[in-house]
Amino acid sequence: MKILITGGLGYIGSHVATLLLQNGVDVVVVDNLENSRIQVLDGITSITGSAPVFKKLDVGNETQMDELFTEHPDIEGVIHFAAYKSVGESVSEPLRYYKNNLGGLNQLLKHSINKTIPFIFSSSCTVYGQSENLPISEDEPLKPATSPYGNTKKIGEQIIQDCCKAHPDFSTILLRYFNPVGAHDSAKIGEYPVGVPQNLVPFLTQTVKGIRPVLKVFGSSYDTPDGTCIRDYIHVMDLAQAHVDSLNYLLNKQNSESCEVYNVGTGNGVSVLELIQMFENATGKKVSYELSEPRTGDTIAAYADVSKIEREIGWKARYSLEEALSSAWKWEEMLHKKLE
Ligand code: NAD
Ligand code: WQD
Repeated sequence: MKILITGGLGYIGSHVATLLLQNGVDVVVVDNLENSRIQVLDGITSITGSAPVFKKLDVGNETQMDELFTEHPDIEGVIHFAAYKSVGESVSEPLRYYKNNLGGLNQLLKHSINKTIPFIFSSSCTVYGQSENLPISEDEPLKPATSPYGNTKKIGEQIIQDCCKAHPDFSTILLRYFNPVGAHDSAKIGEYPVGVPQNLVPFLTQTVKGIRPVLKVFGSSYDTPDGTCIRDYIHVMDLAQAHVDSLNYLLNKQNSESCEVYNVGTGNGVSVLELIQMFENATGKKVSYELSEPRTGDTIAAYADVSKIEREIGWKARYSLEEALSSAWKWEEMLHKKLE
């Protein structure tokens, strides 16, 4: 079986590529390397003992995509990660985000629909905004997006749903990820933020490493038990397994809905201060942090109702947050050994 992974050298895609290769699947990875490095291929190969086929290309480029599907007429599934993901950057460069995230999706859908290839899309809990209800179920009404990035996910979902209505034999799964953290147990692949990390865990590990002087905790008087924001942090290995299980489900299912939406999280809400404490317990390292002003646009609390994916796909998060944070720290240390 041959599966196409777009953005497969990025953070989440590289972990999915690893799991699929370990399951004996032929993997074709495409990536334009705008937010990843070619060395990730070595990491994947070193973990699995086999290399994916790799092609450097832009998924929004029609000619390159036509050539890819001609070269690989036997692709049986598509997992589409390739997109820009910085919320702040999307606010200052909206056109670049709409073009890349929706143009690439358009190309992939064209080929997947033509050949009726099952399709998995990386969506995000960002589509819920600040939900009225917690935990958040897939039925929760979506809020207007607070950034062009978030809007590309909302519009992307809508485009796919419209395609499913028009082509009832085309089957897709939209996975709404909560907050992915951590790295492969081997520390041979992980998250590689370019510039100053915007997300909590890479900023925290860089602070402990001494690259950043202090971690600012954005907001400490929210209406939460300790005043800091609450999120659902999920180990990237669990998230990767959710893709493998979703793909198997799509490939084996008969006569069910052609477009399904699933939350992927742990179901546990954890505050920023709790996460810092868990990191210190898991690694024995002290985190230098200070309470600071809230960050504009942050939702106060978001964690997933994961009963639908558990019930229908049979997937459940297995790793603890302590394990995820240990792996993030191991990766941070390994990364700097490599760069030194
Ligand atoms: P990432 O930036 O590490 O990976 C994306 C990969 O896609 C990168 O390797 C990049 O070089 C590549 N890429 C971007 N545009 C491309 C293009 N036009 N053609 C070919 N390759 C291209 O991001 P990630 O964290 O692995 O996220 C993967 C997907 O999951 C994205 O769609 C993202 O929006 C979504 N997502 C991520 C998170 C998160 O917190 N990491 C949460 C929810 C959803
Ligand atoms: C987590 C918590 C911060 C950094 C973002 C995107 C979202 C999704 C995941 C893709 C929050 C706090 C953070 C810091 C802090 N991506 N924090 N100090 O905001 O839940 O979601 O990434 O779809 O679209 O918006 O994740 O990791 O940035 O923040 O106190 O230096 O950590 O305020 O409460 P977030 P995050």
